[in-house]
Amino acid sequence: MSPNRKCLQNSTTTTALLLLVLLSLTGFLEAELQRGFYMRSCPMAEYIIKDEVRQAFFSDWGYAAGLVRLHFHDCFVRGCDASVLIDSTPGNTAEKDAAANNPSLRGFDVIDNAKARLENMCPGVVSCADILAFAARDSVEMTRGLGYDVPAGRRDGSISRDSEATMNLPPPFADVELLTKIFGSKGLTQEEMVILSGAHTIGRAHCTSFSNRLYSFNTTTVQDPTIHPAYAAQLQRQCPSGKAGANIVVPMDPISPAVSDTAYYRNILNNRGLFTSDQTLISVASTADLVNQYARDPRLWGRKFADAMVAMGQVGVLTGDQGEIRGNCRVVN
Ligand code: HEM
Ligand SMILES: *[C@@H]1O[C@H](CO)[C@@H](O)[C@H](O)[C@H]1NC(C)=O
Repeated sequence: MSPNRKCLQNSTTTTALLLLVLLSLTGFLEAELQRGFYMRSCPMAEYIIKDEVRQAFFSDWGYAAGLVRLHFHDCFVRGCDASVLIDSTPGNTAEKDAAANNPSLRGFDVIDNAKARLENMCPGVVSCADILAFAARDSVEMTRGLGYDVPAGRRDGSISRDSEATMNLPPPFADVELLTKIFGSKGLTQEEMVILSGAHTIGRAHCTSFSNRLYSFNTTTVQDPTIHPAYAAQLQRQCPSGKAGANIVVPMDPISPAVSDTAYYRNILNNRGLFTSDQTLISVASTADLVNQYARDPRLWGRKFADAMVAMGQVGVLTGDQGEIRGNCRVVN
C-alpha cells in the first residue's frame, strides 16, 4: 500500500470514528424515544389521549393520581412496556393482580377508552406503553403541575407476572437505603427518587398501606414515633384497627389531594408523611436537604419532576422492531 493511500485510509477511519462518537453522543445510535413520535403516523394521538384524561378527571379527579401511578408501576416492572395493563389468564397471574397493584391501581378504563379511539383512527400504531406515558403527563397537567413533552416510540411487551411486580415495586415500609437501591436498579438517582416521591402529593392510600405505623410498628413499639401525634390520632380515627379498615382510603396529602404542588414535602417536614417511605426522606442528610429545597421552591420541584418523569419513562423501553403494538391493551396480540 502506498503511503498516500494509507494516510487517506487513516483519515477516513478517524473521520468515521469521530462521526460515531458524535452520533452516539447525540444519541442517534441508541434506539431512543422521540418527541412528536406520532406527528405523521397518528397526528391526533396525543390530543385524543388528553381528551380522555380530561373527561375522566372531570368525572373523578382521583383518575389523575391513578394514571401517574400506573405509568410508574409499568416502568418499574420490565420497563415501560405496558406489562401492567395485561390481564391475568387461567395459566398466569399478571402484574396488575399482585398485592402491590390489586385493588389499589386505577385508571385502566381511561387507557382502554383512549386505545379504542386510537385503534379506530390509526390501527396498530400507538402503543399502550406510550398511552400510559402521555396519560401520566396529562394527569400532571390536570392537577396543575408543569407539563412536558413526552418522548415516545415505546413498544408493548408480552409478559406480565405478579411475582415481578412484587419483586420490583418499592414497598411503603422501605427506608432511604432500600429506596435508593431500588431506584438505582432502574437507572434512577437518589435525587430522582426524592423528586418522584413528590407524586404522593396527589391521590389516596388504603389504610392497609400504612396501618402498621399506627398499630403494630414493631415488637417493642406500637406506634411509629416519627408520625406527628395529632396526625396519628387523625389517621387512627379514619382507619380503625383490624379488618374493618381494609377498604378505607385516605388522601396522601390532606391539604391539597388533587394538586401537584409541594405540600408533600412540607408535610414530611411536619412529620406528616403518610408512609415510612415518605417520612424516611428526612432521616438522612442527603435526602433531607432535598426535601427542604423542594418544600421551599415549588417551581424548582415542578421542573425537576417533569425531567424525572421523562427519565422514568425511559426505563427499559422496547423500541424499533422489539415488542409489538397491542390492539387491546389488556391482551397480547
Ligand atoms: C418511592 C417509593 C414509593 C412507594 C413505596 C410508593 C408506595 C405507594 C403506595 C403504598 C400507595 C398507596 C396505594 C394504596 O394503598 O391505595 C401509593 C400511591 C400512589 N403513588 Fe406511590 N410509591 C412510591 C413512589 C411513587 C412514584 C415514583 C410515583 C409516580 C411518579 C408514585 C405515584 C403514586 C400516586 C399518584 C399514588 C396515588 C394513587 C391513587 O390515588 O390511586 N409513587 N404509592
Ligand atoms: C422499634 O422502633 C423503635 C422506634 O423507632 C426503636 O427505637 C426500636 O429499636 C425498635 N425495636 C425493634 C425491636 O426493632
